[in-house]
Amino acid sequence: MESIDTLQEQLLARVAASDNPTEVIKAPELAQLYAQIPTLPAEERGAFGKAVNELKQVIAAAVETRSEQLNTVELAPIDVTAPFDVNSAAPALMPARDGTLHPLTQEMEVVSDIFNRMGFVTEESREIDDQYHMFESLNFPKGHPARDDWDTFMTVETDGDGDPLIAPAHTSTMQNRALKKYKANLDEGRPIAVVVPDRTFRNEDLDARHEHTFYQVEGVYVNKGVHAGMLVATLQKFLEEYYGRKLTVRVNPFYFPFTEPSFEFALECPFCDDGCNVCSQSKWIELLGCGMIHPNVLKAAGIDSNEYSGFAFGCGIDRLVMMKHNIEDVRHFEAGKLNFLRQF
Ligand code: DAH
Repeated sequence: MESIDTLQEQLLARVAASDNPTEVIKAPELAQLYAQIPTLPAEERGAFGKAVNELKQVIAAAVETRSEQLNTVELAPIDVTAPFDVNSAAPALMPARDGTLHPLTQEMEVVSDIFNRMGFVTEESREIDDQYHMFESLNFPKGHPARDDWDTFMTVETDGDGDPLIAPAHTSTMQNRALKKYKANLDEGRPIAVVVPDRTFRNEDLDARHEHTFYQVEGVYVNKGVHAGMLVATLQKFLEEYYGRKLTVRVNPFYFPFTEPSFEFALECPFCDDGCNVCSQSKWIELLGCGMIHPNVLKAAGIDSNEYSGFAFGCGIDRLVMMKHNIEDVRHFEAGKLNFLRQF
């Protein structure tokens, strides 16, 4: 029995020092003890067997504790995106507290919040879509010449109709989904009121005002008796909240396949009285497209256009933010330059 106590001490010491403690359970000394049991005189066997079992349990418990200890060792964080040998000590990782939200993300929250206060719900768009949502549901049948105005990036893969998928050139692609999702509101006597602030893509020649990747907020509002005056009032109120001042706005006729009538919405330059470089000396800033939702767009979502009408608008967010913060070049937003980003 004394030898069992000595062996217990030895085995426990081995467990404590081992990186692979389960090995200790298989120690030959332990196996030998078990082998000894049947060779003993019958009267000694019981007590000896019990002692060997107890020894094994003590070792097993120690092995478990040691294994847990080994598994919870504190590991250094690894940035899987870093272009250096992540397992070496340098360069140091940037502490998370030094990061901030991107200025466009911050401003999209402001935009969303203003519309939420007006009763709109916020939905997300997507970064790849099918041609039904990009075109057909928005009253651009196949072969419609206006499709070329939304000339974006297509995938090699095709959708169920054999058409390439597309990186959305506007968040209007979400109109059909938003109308369908909230259609039940109309039956309950409530309007459909949705905004979609999100990312969009276009095949552009890049310059200070044009970027291939940018942001838009799309809005749709449907109810009984909706008219263009409500559209203008909603947009004017939104812009006045956003810029924190009274604004004069102007609405000119325009063309979009998904609205009838369609308008281009401009505001009197909030930065000057008689021309500046923000408004290109014109005193007016063309800000967004909008109009009364075309009956075919309502129909595509299963809404009776004789009973309900609605307005829609799509506004570039980068442009809004550039004007608010006096940013001279849209390309700063996607450049990832810390000296730009740290100003916000
Ligand atoms: N999708 C248009 C664009 O990207 C903007 C737009 C115009 C959206 C009229 C609308 C609308 O919802 O009704 O230029």
